[in-house]
Amino acid sequence: MLPGAMSEAVAKKSPEQDGEGSSRRSSWGLLVTAGVGGTLVALYAVVTPFVTPALRKVCLPFVPATATQVQNVLKMLENRSGPLVDIGSGDGRIVIAAAKKGFKAVGYELNPWLVWYSRYRAWRDGVHQNTKFYISDLWKVSFSHYTNVVVFGVPQMMPQLEKKLEEELECNARIIACRFPFPCWIPDHTTGEGIDTVWAYDLKHYRRCETKNLEITPERES
Ligand SMILES: C[S@@+](CC[C@H](N)C(=O)[O-])C[C@H]1O[C@@H](n2cnc3c(N)ncnc32)[C@H](O)[C@@H]1O
Ligand SMILES: *[C@@H]1O[C@H](CO)[C@@H](O)[C@H](O)[C@H]1NC(C)=O
Repeated sequence: MLPGAMSEAVAKKSPEQDGEGSSRRSSWGLLVTAGVGGTLVALYAVVTPFVTPALRKVCLPFVPATATQVQNVLKMLENRSGPLVDIGSGDGRIVIAAAKKGFKAVGYELNPWLVWYSRYRAWRDGVHQNTKFYISDLWKVSFSHYTNVVVFGVPQMMPQLEKKLEEELECNARIIACRFPFPCWIPDHTTGEGIDTVWAYDLKHYRRCETKNLEITPERES
């Protein structure tokens, strides 16, 4: 995204240079190219540690939730109780906001820097008793003991995550997705608009929860 924005800015600049000599234009071009190249290398150096660990399966970069997104997630947690997990917890903002609402909240995050920073923030905000942050790969842990699951993922990972959660979670679980919805499940609640949209799915409609009931009914009748 950033490189795209940069080349756009460069493209906007070039028409202003049209009236000048071609040699001057080419050296200017060289300078811009070098500048953009240098910036990209620097950007790459800074961004790589945040992105490469996530390349194991799909690239899930650190994009923190907006204040509105956090508010929308909290709205979906009304009427809810039980432990909460944020999958890929970033700087811990969702975990901390949920802990402030009284949830026992846990974050799983691959980037150790973000985990340490989350722990510091939780301590600073006085909720470290109710929060836990683990340095873990989301594909290598089970979320089975959580009744509230929050995820701000990327579209490529949603089908696989949908399958994983459907297998692991209990029937009373609610899954809350930020910005990108799950492909197959039908949301029970939706709030917000555009990038701040948040979807809530109650798992009881899926994962053989309802088939189990159908199996029990004939037994009761006989
Ligand atoms: C889009 S950010 C969301 C951050 C946070 N949940 C929020 O809403 O502010 C996704 C986070 O997942 C982390 N992540 C990427 N791959 C992961 C993996 N395999 N296991 C655990 N966390 C991962 C990234 O480092 C990033 O911080
Ligand atoms: C919370 O409960 C009320 C009353 O049952 C219901 O109308 C509302 O939709 C619920 N909100 C969410 C986000 O589940």
